[in-house]
Amino acid sequence: MTKRGYFGSRLGIVLATAGSAVGLGNVWRFPFMVGHNGGAAFILLYFGCVLLLGLPGMVSEFIVGRHAQANAARAYGAMHRGRGWKLIGYLGILTSTIILGFYAVVAGWCLQYLAASLLGHLNGDSHYVEHYFQEFSTHPLKPCLWAVGFILITHLVVARGIRRGIERASKVLMPLLLVLLVVIAVASCLLPGAEKGVEFLLKPDFSKLSRGVFLDALGQAFFSLSLGTACLCTYASYFSRRVSLARSALQICLLDSAIAILAGLMIFPAAFSVGIQPDSGPSLVFITLPNVFREAFTAIPAVGYVVAVMFYLLLVFAALTSTISMHEIGTAYFHEENHLERRSAAWIMTVACSLLAVACSLSVGGWAGLQVMGRSLMEFCDFVTAQVMLPVGAFLTSLLLGWFADRQVVYNEFTNNGSMHSTLFRVYMVSVRYVVPTCILLIFLNQSGLLNVLTALFASH
Ligand code: PHE
Repeated sequence: MTKRGYFGSRLGIVLATAGSAVGLGNVWRFPFMVGHNGGAAFILLYFGCVLLLGLPGMVSEFIVGRHAQANAARAYGAMHRGRGWKLIGYLGILTSTIILGFYAVVAGWCLQYLAASLLGHLNGDSHYVEHYFQEFSTHPLKPCLWAVGFILITHLVVARGIRRGIERASKVLMPLLLVLLVVIAVASCLLPGAEKGVEFLLKPDFSKLSRGVFLDALGQAFFSLSLGTACLCTYASYFSRRVSLARSALQICLLDSAIAILAGLMIFPAAFSVGIQPDSGPSLVFITLPNVFREAFTAIPAVGYVVAVMFYLLLVFAALTSTISMHEIGTAYFHEENHLERRSAAWIMTVACSLLAVACSLSVGGWAGLQVMGRSLMEFCDFVTAQVMLPVGAFLTSLLLGWFADRQVVYNEFTNNGSMHSTLFRVYMVSVRYVVPTCILLIFLNQSGLLNVLTALFASH
């Protein structure tokens, strides 16, 4: 087998891993979930999930990956003699392939919107913008081509390897993304009437919380942190032995949350300023925002033009650093386990994800009959990954680390052989043994309605 790659520096590690975490999950999914679930109260729950479940979950995946320094399936297998644990790795590879399939469709929409905003094709009244999105997203060919194009760009980076491909791309794209976000968020908050949007984001109204909101917040937190897909585990297999896993995880969680909030500050103040409702769902950034850009900057259309181009460019960058990480999980697996050249291994992922992406794209338009459990294939892929597969992956990982893995191995990885964070290690162990599995289980029980049945049963005794 060829020598494995490594990230070259600590900054490279944080930027590449944060690049995986920060993506359409923050800029596209987070705002529409917040809009759908009523604003600040949802955000509080979301932060709760990030800190209580996401942070220890991320450390766990880091431990698995860095310990074995191998692809996800082998890494999970190496944590315990029982052969079944390898399945978590396979589950992760499957999950990330499915996510890449539907994610590439949205990323392809972003490419189309980047081209359209550059060419000035998004100018028109609100009906025009809505019609534009409907017509484009349901077109049988165009969105498929953009989606496959996006996967091919991802392929090019991944095939170049860890340092020259993934690390270098992240070091350029992540800082650019941050700058663009801050500039647009400031422009948005300066608009007249923007305070209402800021209030929507920061002032919780708990009456808006419904039962489904807990699973929504959990799914969003895991999706946004790339947790439960073995993605973090695969990236950690390229970490150096000296880096502190707990500190890196904390930095990445903070960065990811900060960027989600910034994305909110970019979208809601502008939307409220022009009187647009924030709850329009997945099309929020494709229908609502072009209207917002146009109306908000009517006085100086050139600024509206620049802001729109910057925004879609930002979405493309954010999406790319994430699709790279999803692609890498399967590529690393086929490369190491099937002894294929890295390039050939990457082609397997590219072809599989492209086929799924085309099917997802068609399910939104031309092939509306392509439904699973009453949802289009595209919505189903989002639902089944974020609300089932990611939580299950994270749940099993925490059982493995909390109860089955060799404690000394976990300790050595967490503390870098006893040189740091020994006290924190105890907190971490309590969290992976009890807190993480219990909370995930409770959220599932709550969602299925079983929690109500159980509490009623206890109450009647
Ligand atoms: N975290 C990414 C985002 O927020 C999505 C992702 C999920 C990436 C799972 C890798 C694995 O967009």
